[in-house]
Amino acid sequence: MSGGSEVNRNETNRSEVIWIGNDHGGYELKNEFARYLGEHGYAVHDAGCSGTEIVRYPTYAVQVAREVSSGRIRRAILICSTGIGMSIVANRFAGVRASLCTSTYLARMTREHNDSNILCLGGRVTGVLEALDILETWLHTSYQGGRHDISLNLIRELDKETQAAGQADVPGLRGGRPQ
Ligand code: RB5
Repeated sequence: MSGGSEVNRNETNRSEVIWIGNDHGGYELKNEFARYLGEHGYAVHDAGCSGTEIVRYPTYAVQVAREVSSGRIRRAILICSTGIGMSIVANRFAGVRASLCTSTYLARMTREHNDSNILCLGGRVTGVLEALDILETWLHTSYQGGRHDISLNLIRELDKETQAAGQADVPGLRGGRPQ
């Protein structure tokens, strides 16, 4: 893993259930992640899809992001071919801070500074070994708080504003009804 600040392995809750959603482009990497997480004592909730036949990434991003937005789960993983589509969809949900990471540096920074709660990856962009390093870094790095709370509070204000404006009518979505 790339250097920098300490990775806090005490952060891990070994009884935590980690949700993973993927499309066809993320299927193979999802399987690698599920194996890694299982071997490291996590329970995995596989939100699909379960093969390489073409599916639509928003279907899976919505299921997973809604769980994080509701607070029912603390953090989750979304994988498509590039990671871009998953992050676009997930970040429409209030309270979701989905981060597309292509390096351990980004994984560390997005935990420390953004308190990222959904890790997005590109199954056709990032190799398996690099992706596992990114996952490990993201799982074990703590949010730093302090000055970063100022930015996160600005995002929370934005969520409130768009929800108040009622720009959508889908539970959990930015602009949707509060759940
Ligand atoms: C599917 O081919 C691809 O568009 C999808 O996996 C994702 O990369 C979209 O952003």
